[in-house]
Amino acid sequence: MKELKTVLNWLQSSKQTVILTGAGMSTESGIPDFRSSSGWWKNIDPQTVAHITALENNYDLFHEFYSMRLSTLDSCEPHDGHFILADWEKRGLVHTIATQNVDGFHAKAGNQNIAELHGSIQNFRCHRCESQATREAFLNKEKCPNCGGKLRPNVVLFGESLPEDSWMKALNAIREAELVIVIGTSLEVYPVNQLPMMTKGKTVFINKDITSNANGFDLVIEGKAKEILTNINLLLTH
Ligand code: APR
Repeated sequence: MKELKTVLNWLQSSKQTVILTGAGMSTESGIPDFRSSSGWWKNIDPQTVAHITALENNYDLFHEFYSMRLSTLDSCEPHDGHFILADWEKRGLVHTIATQNVDGFHAKAGNQNIAELHGSIQNFRCHRCESQATREAFLNKEKCPNCGGKLRPNVVLFGESLPEDSWMKALNAIREAELVIVIGTSLEVYPVNQLPMMTKGKTVFINKDITSNANGFDLVIEGKAKEILTNINLLLTH
């Protein structure tokens, strides 16, 4: 409880707070994360489905994997934790949401100032000519009407660099931040795992599993995102 009060005090006194989220932010919505015991990468080698070479050399498997992720997403919705972060932005307590998640749930919950560091699974393009494509065309495995290229979701694949605008937006916000709260990520993936240490502000790590990646944070809270955010919000509103 004391820790939650500390986070709330820091949140209310901070002039610029950035929230950095990962897949653990959406597991309570029913979307698996990647590296937990029930994560996607437990049974699937990411190199075979989520690497640029998978799209180029094994499109059927790539397509099957992302079609499966899209159908999982269709049956899920943002949870209270997502809505609390949107409310905190409206209250001026949160400046920027930087996320590794491609589910679009922060935007769906009402956040405005979002940096999608690994892109979005909710929109699509041709891998060759970059022209926009529809979800239906991707799911129907259609070729690009413009150049005949392969269609893909706008997610960042392993072997690809992050979208420059989102990266700079997150980096600048974190550099200027007085408080950075990291929620639901293993911090295993570069370069996002470097971001928390690029701030001169205070840092908080909220995660279900605490590993050595929690080293260096000013405050570490072991627990589930929705639960922790709900309890902090109760302190804020009561
Ligand atoms: N609340 C808090 N933390 C949680 C919860 C929860 N409800 N559920 C899971 N977690 C934690 C897990 O303990 C794990 O440490 O969230 C973390 C999720 O870590 P990963 O599965 O590695 O996901 P993430 O860090 O977002 O992965 C980064 O890797 O596979 C790529 O592109 C993909 O964006 C992804 C990137």
